[in-house]
Parts: sequence; structure tokens; C-alpha cells
Amino acid sequence: MIYIKSSAEIQKMRDAGKLAAEVLHETGARVREGISTESLNDFAHRYTISKGAISAPLNYKGFPKSICTSVNNVICHGIPCKEEILKNGDILNIDVTVKYKGYHGDTSRMFRIGKISQEAEQLIEDTEKAMWKGIQAILPGNKISDIGDSIETFLKAKNYGVVRDFTGHGIGSYFHEDPPIPHYSQRMIQEKMRPGMIFTVEPMVNLGDWRSVVSKEDQWTATTVDGSLSAQFEHTCLVSKNGYEVLTIYS
Ligand code: MF3
Ligand code: CO
Ligand code: CO
Repeated sequence: MIYIKSSAEIQKMRDAGKLAAEVLHETGARVREGISTESLNDFAHRYTISKGAISAPLNYKGFPKSICTSVNNVICHGIPCKEEILKNGDILNIDVTVKYKGYHGDTSRMFRIGKISQEAEQLIEDTEKAMWKGIQAILPGNKISDIGDSIETFLKAKNYGVVRDFTGHGIGSYFHEDPPIPHYSQRMIQEKMRPGMIFTVEPMVNLGDWRSVVSKEDQWTATTVDGSLSAQFEHTCLVSKNGYEVLTIYS
């Protein structure tokens, strides 16, 4: 069931999206070599609380922390920890989801630690562009599957692995709502976009194989099967009357 948001709900989603972008921006400003991913978590948590919001990941289906921090070959759902120290050459995704006045804003982006490899840089730039290709496919009457088609078409010549095991998602008063938003080409979802739908576009792209494996120990951390690097960017997007509005732009 896809919820169409009322204009009052859309306004609350704008506020939540803006706050998520702010938390990501401020947390990202603390990224540097030698700090732990836990210190980023703790900063984001305190900042979120100070704004009267809550960190949606904390205790979500048992997730133990307030943000996701996914380093190098981690595709998504990396758990911040104090033993994980950022080092020169690492790439990091920080994924922030806040719940504010009952509604969610969800956004993530990549960070570079020191000097990263040429191929890591290219992967990050291509993944961000791929997200925008997906977002630009948002228009009432277009199919939800047009988003994944655009992303795959853009990435096709580059031989990356586009992750299939995790998708974007509807979002609102619930963290994850219908519909799933695949980032690859498929014919399963024929549903069309309508004004008032809100969902995330959050492609995960691997330098190697597209397949993922979830840690048996923590049940969350998803890594690439072949150890290759992975990148991700995410925005929360509203289907507007004549296109889209990105709700998680930092301003
Ligand atoms: N923020 C992630 C997403 O984009 C979801 C994280 S679920 C958590 O959908 F439990 F790991 F936080
Ligand atoms: Co999301
Ligand atoms: Co997210």
C-alpha cells in the first residue's frame, strides 16, 4: 500500500528532510583520519536529540546505533564502533535518518579520508551521478521502474556491480514504507508515480560483483562478496505535480 501524503504531511517531511541533511552535514564535518566511527555516531546522536528529534536507526529492528557508517567494502548498514578508526585512503558512507515530529528524513553520502585511489574516486563520482539520474526520472505518470532503468543505463558501460539486495523505499511516518525502489532494471513493478508519493533513491554501487553478504555475527553489516569497494548516495524525494522535490538538500 503506497501512502499519498497530504500537504500537511509533506510540510512535516520537508522539515524532517531538512534536519536529516543538517545532521549529515554537521556529522560529515567531523570526518577525519584517526577518529572512530563511534565518535561520529555519538556526535550525530547528540545533535539529533538537541534538535528535538530522534535517530531512527537506534533500536530499529534491533539496530544498535544511531547512524550507519559503511567503510570501503561495506555496502550498507555498517555499525559504528570505537575500534573502527578511519585511516588514510578509506571511503566512508554516513547514512542519517531522523524522526522529527512523527516523520522521517533519510539521506546519505560518501566521504573521502585523506588521499583515496583513482578508482575509488571514480566510483564515488559515478555513484552520485547515478543517484541523480534516478532522481531525474521522477515524474507523475512515469513508472517506479524508470528510476532503476535510468541508473543502470547510466552505469552500463562501466562494469560496476549495481546492488540488488537493498533498495530505496517509501518513507513517511514509517521509516520504511511501500514501494521498494530498485536501483537496477526489472519488470516486476509496474506501478506509476503519483504526486504526493515520497520515497528514497539510494543506489549502492560496487567496483566488482553486485552480490552482498550480511555478517553472521552482527546480522547487519552488508559487504561485497568479493571484497571490492562500494559507494552509496541517498536522498528522500517527493513526487511533485510536475517532477520532483528533493527533501534532504542541506540549506
Ligand atoms: N538508512 C537506511 C536506509 O537508507 C536504513 C538503515 S536501517 C538500520 O534505508 F536499522 F540499519 F538503521
Ligand atoms: Co533509505
Ligand atoms: Co538511509
